[in-house]
Amino acid sequence: MQTTTTIEQTREAIDTPRASRLTIGFIPTMGFLHEGHLSLIDVARAHGAEFIVVSIFVNPTQFGPNEDFARYPRDEQRDVALLEAKDVDLLFLPSVDVMYPAGSQTVVSVGGVAAPLEGQRRPGHFDGVATVVLKLFNIVRPDLAVFGRKDAQQCAVIERMVQDLDVPVTLVFGETDREPDGLARSSRNSYLSGEERMLAPALYRALRVGQDAIAGGVTDPGVIESLMRKTVEATAGVEIDYLAVVDPATFLPPAGFQRDVLVVGAVRIGRTRLIDNIRIARAS
Ligand code: PAJ
Repeated sequence: MQTTTTIEQTREAIDTPRASRLTIGFIPTMGFLHEGHLSLIDVARAHGAEFIVVSIFVNPTQFGPNEDFARYPRDEQRDVALLEAKDVDLLFLPSVDVMYPAGSQTVVSVGGVAAPLEGQRRPGHFDGVATVVLKLFNIVRPDLAVFGRKDAQQCAVIERMVQDLDVPVTLVFGETDREPDGLARSSRNSYLSGEERMLAPALYRALRVGQDAIAGGVTDPGVIESLMRKTVEATAGVEIDYLAVVDPATFLPPAGFQRDVLVVGAVRIGRTRLIDNIRIARAS
């Protein structure tokens, strides 16, 4: 695996496989890799990627002033070993100065879909995500890029950006990889103490309750949300940020249950904030 740290090196490293007409697959990450991240590499290959590029960049612009940028977990050596073992071709590992040189002043701002839920709780977060993802796309110029459905609103925001700005990339979304007890894998799970870790599956349990209610024919979002709320409230120490039923493309309340819907949630356990979702396909 080749590792690059500058934009020029990265473009040069990808010139050769591109000239050989290999399909370039790209998986952007913030590192501290887990099986969820690694599963996206398999998804890229399953969709025809022949040259795999992974980036690791803890992007400061997507963190709020009171968020966890400074303490975000990092383990470069371990990440490199995991990517080597997955036969990744190129790791792009830029510094903040490479991605945001002095004088940089352009931001990508996605509209409606970025506004509710995560967007409301984390002002500026999706501007930071959209900006860094577009920059990475312009550096790597992948044929396809893979994102995890774990961050469902991020998927919708990036999909909207790619469509609105005519970005020449095919987006592929990978399913959420979970621990055996249902907890979605996340770099932030490493913040949880042993005791907190035991409480964490409450979020997924609540989403499953919402899923079951919808499967059972409940169509009132208020009723579904209150069933999910009660489930989380049964676990002391887990504080609800939001629990909602939304349309997966707009993140607004679903217009009906004839199309796919998403049950989404965010909770706090101590200082750790966790998000998760389940997409519910409607049989037509
Ligand atoms: P990060 O949280 O490191 O996640 C990188 C990618 O892995 C994202 O597409 C995310 O949705 C996916 N992912 C995380 N946990 C997953 C799981 N349990 N199963 C499947 N996929 C999972 O998301 C980001 O970084 C950043 O916002 C980024 C897109 C890199 C922009 O900075």
